[in-house]
Amino acid sequence: MRVKQLHIVITIIGITLSVFACKKTSVTFSNTTDAGYLKRPDYFPAPHYLHTTNVFSKQGFELGRKLFFDPVLSINNSISCASCHKQEYAFADGGEILSKGIDGRTGRRHTPSIFNMAWNTSFMWDGGVNHLEVMPLAPLTNPNEMGETISHIVYKLNRHNEYPSLFKEVFHRDSIDDQQMFWALAQYMSNLVSSDSKYDKVLTNRDKFTAEEQQGYNLYKANCAACHKEPLFTDYSFQNNGLDVVYTADSGRYRITTNNDDWGKFKVPTLRNAAVTYPYMHDGRFATLDDVLKHYSDGILASPTLSSLLIKNGKPGLALTKSEQQLIITFLKTLTDSTFLHNTNLAEHTK
Ligand code: HEC
Ligand code: HEC
Repeated sequence: MRVKQLHIVITIIGITLSVFACKKTSVTFSNTTDAGYLKRPDYFPAPHYLHTTNVFSKQGFELGRKLFFDPVLSINNSISCASCHKQEYAFADGGEILSKGIDGRTGRRHTPSIFNMAWNTSFMWDGGVNHLEVMPLAPLTNPNEMGETISHIVYKLNRHNEYPSLFKEVFHRDSIDDQQMFWALAQYMSNLVSSDSKYDKVLTNRDKFTAEEQQGYNLYKANCAACHKEPLFTDYSFQNNGLDVVYTADSGRYRITTNNDDWGKFKVPTLRNAAVTYPYMHDGRFATLDDVLKHYSDGILASPTLSSLLIKNGKPGLALTKSEQQLIITFLKTLTDSTFLHNTNLAEHTK
């Protein structure tokens, strides 16, 4: 069964990429302005996703933005990407443990935040998708999420009263195809950049940490930064952070690789905006940051794939005192980027 699932994932990705590869783009783009493209501070590394084939334009971004908020992409026109990925929660799901898809159905994993996606080397909690342009295929066709087929979406878009002219303006093709839809969504998602938190302001000498925030920062560097690496607060690796002993409910990275070393490993999520992306972990098991810090302090469970970084003096857990836990939380709150959470240029278009 696992092997079969793996096969399906790889086949879907393979098919899509080969479809993409066959369609040669011979059009010239009338608007190749890169104004606003991946605005990022100098201390961010170079992004992983580059707009080489999918040339960025303001209109392309706006089209992706419209699609992201449009329930027309789901089978019964009820669920949009933004139904689960909500801007005020850093595009996570605002308190829902499991998000509701069409007809109130739920999947088995918690909705992650979406920002700084251009730096992601893989997607989903288990890294099962390796390309930003392919990522929407999973939610669009998942029966618990949007339950559509790509051909029916393309059919609906081509008959829509607004989309045909909007796509034509961006991609200059006679009709809308799936590649253009994936490109437009990628133009929007790759430009959701969060880099204006208090932490960023301190880094660029526009603000100062309080004494507690600084102590929390030091504790974070000693205990968390090896995996949640600055400045993106993840190193994009897969790690077992001691949530379970038996991983039958969700084997994580193992599901993709079937390598025994990968049992219970999940993609290290960013800590940026963590104060608003509750509940936490791939299954949303922790409601608050207090619960998370308690887990790292004395709730870590030993298993063969547990990261050695989470073992101290031969015992699983980081043994942080109550006050150390609170100081780390105080620091984590400096990672909230309210400019990003309230930026109307990223929000749904108001009519
Ligand atoms: C029903 C809720 C739901 C809807 C609708 C939904 N998503 Fe998601 N999204 C999720 C969940 C849950 C995951 C994690 C899936 C996993 O790891 O197995 C996810 C993961 C992602 C990720 C990967 C993030 C990361 O850090 O790896 C991206 C990007 C994304 N979704 C974009 C989209 C787009 C684009 C749409 C619309 C086409 C969409 N989502 C619709 C729930 C949803
Ligand atoms: C060995 C690597 C590693 C270390 C060290 C580590 N983490 Fe994590 N962290 C992870 C992984 C992997 C996950 C995701 C696990 C999952 O969902 O199954 C995670 C998840 C989280 C989450 C949930 C984020 C979300 O969006 O759901 C928070 C918050 C967090 N860690 C905070 C911390 C803090 C604070 C420290 C230091 C006290 C720390 N982590 C140390 C690997 C690590």
